[in-house]
Amino acid sequence: MSFANLDPAEAAKLIRHDMNVGFSGFTPAGSPKVVPGAIAAQAEVEHANGREFKIGVITGASTGPSLDGVLAKANAVKYRTPYQSNADLRKAINDGRAQFFDMHLSQLQQTLRSGALGEIDVAIIEAADVTDQGEILLTSAVGAAPTLARLAKKVIIELNEAHPKELLGMHDIFEPEDPPYRKAIPVSNVRERIGSPRLWIDPDKIVGIVKSNKPDEVGGFDVMTDVTRQIGINVSTFLAQEIKGGRIPREFLPIQSGVGNIANAVLAALGESKDIPAFEMYTEVIQDSVIGLIDSGKIKFASGCSLTISPELLKKVYDDLKRYRNHMLLRPQEISNNPEVVRRLGIISMNTALEADIFGNINSTHVLGSSMMNGIGGSGDFTRNAYLSIFACPSTAKGGKISTIVPLCSHLDHSEHSVGALITEWGIADLRGKSPHQRAETIIENCVHPEYRPQLREYIRLGGGVHTPHTLSKAFRMHVQFQDSGSMLGVEWA
Ligand code: COA
Repeated sequence: MSFANLDPAEAAKLIRHDMNVGFSGFTPAGSPKVVPGAIAAQAEVEHANGREFKIGVITGASTGPSLDGVLAKANAVKYRTPYQSNADLRKAINDGRAQFFDMHLSQLQQTLRSGALGEIDVAIIEAADVTDQGEILLTSAVGAAPTLARLAKKVIIELNEAHPKELLGMHDIFEPEDPPYRKAIPVSNVRERIGSPRLWIDPDKIVGIVKSNKPDEVGGFDVMTDVTRQIGINVSTFLAQEIKGGRIPREFLPIQSGVGNIANAVLAALGESKDIPAFEMYTEVIQDSVIGLIDSGKIKFASGCSLTISPELLKKVYDDLKRYRNHMLLRPQEISNNPEVVRRLGIISMNTALEADIFGNINSTHVLGSSMMNGIGGSGDFTRNAYLSIFACPSTAKGGKISTIVPLCSHLDHSEHSVGALITEWGIADLRGKSPHQRAETIIENCVHPEYRPQLREYIRLGGGVHTPHTLSKAFRMHVQFQDSGSMLGVEWA
């Protein structure tokens, strides 16, 4: 069987209002970049003719401008899960034009299989190669593509020449049985392969191939600042202390590192530290800094779910795939983020908070409790199950007008029970084994910006000697003052 060649507009005609469409990709890596634009154009025509056209958009995680961006701009997103980070889509979500279900990424595939998210009408899968028998070579991500393709009623392949066929061997496709038939996920070390290098899709479901040559739209990082650099140094100092003190084994443990500028700075600092031995990563997103650390020998192996690497670096990896394949492996998110595996391997997780409270609860997602930033992503998959879970963030945001450490988080993603240490540019709060009073003291004295320390000490004093010294009527006063006057500084508690 050879598949029909479709142009993007022909492929887009298969998508109708109210359908659920599954897209491959995890972050902008590996997502289709041509058909979504044609779907958006179709939506605009429908809207201009007074007809509704909105679809459910399900991918592995976030995507870039040519998927989430074009669909959001065309007002064509009815529903989105499980994660996003595109500015246009974020706006649509926070304006109420698109519904967003923010979920743990490891749970997406099982939830899809259960049927709780509805049926997948069409899956659009980016491939580096496809055979007549339906053997697909995925590109720079695995994400949820295996499950989306298997569950979909129809599949469109976006065959992208920008990804080389030498990628074969980079992926490890494995889909577990569902309970009550699931067996142990047999990953007992970071490098272990448990599946197959290609994804098989029933050829009868493949309706055609759309050709593409668009590269992944992965952005770079902000230049490191003194603050982000110091956060990185503090995380690496903490881990070095833990190894020295025998609380982390001398041979070290696999690292999970979150997304964004802070995560990038933390990895850079680990790379530079002489006290941190060469290590392995069992992580979700393989970011730019990982490649440099593989080159320098500091990272021995990285198992992830996507190569979310900026274009110049990805070219370097693609030019030397034979070597990089010995140091990297891409798994479905159900496995890269699997709580069972995370607990077994003893991962050290390092994620970023938008906001933390003085007791160690973490908000990673909601600005002032109400506006969605990106989503919880895989941070919960790792945090709750890690051997040691670290959150890092700058002590202030918006030029010091916001203290990222507040009396009570305005939204909760990770509870104090899952957080081992909080780290800012000012220092390290080791929260393990501490009561709420002790946590508050170590967080205020070590992590809070000095300008905000007096008001947070006073908040604790007002709470009195109870187990967790909160005063409910004042717990959000810093947030309220920011909304009213533009600054959290100088809150009066009386
Ligand atoms: N209140 C309001 N805004 C805040 C804030 C707060 N408490 N803390 C930070 N911000 C703002 C910053 O000012 C910045 O906005 P700007 O770009 O307009 O200046 C923005 O939030 C992001 O800050 P940045 O320093 O660029 O952070 P980052 O790139 O390191 O990303 C997260 C931080 C939390 C947004 C990001 O890590 C994330 O989405 N995490 C959740 C998912 C996750 O952890 N995934 C990893 C799992 S493997």
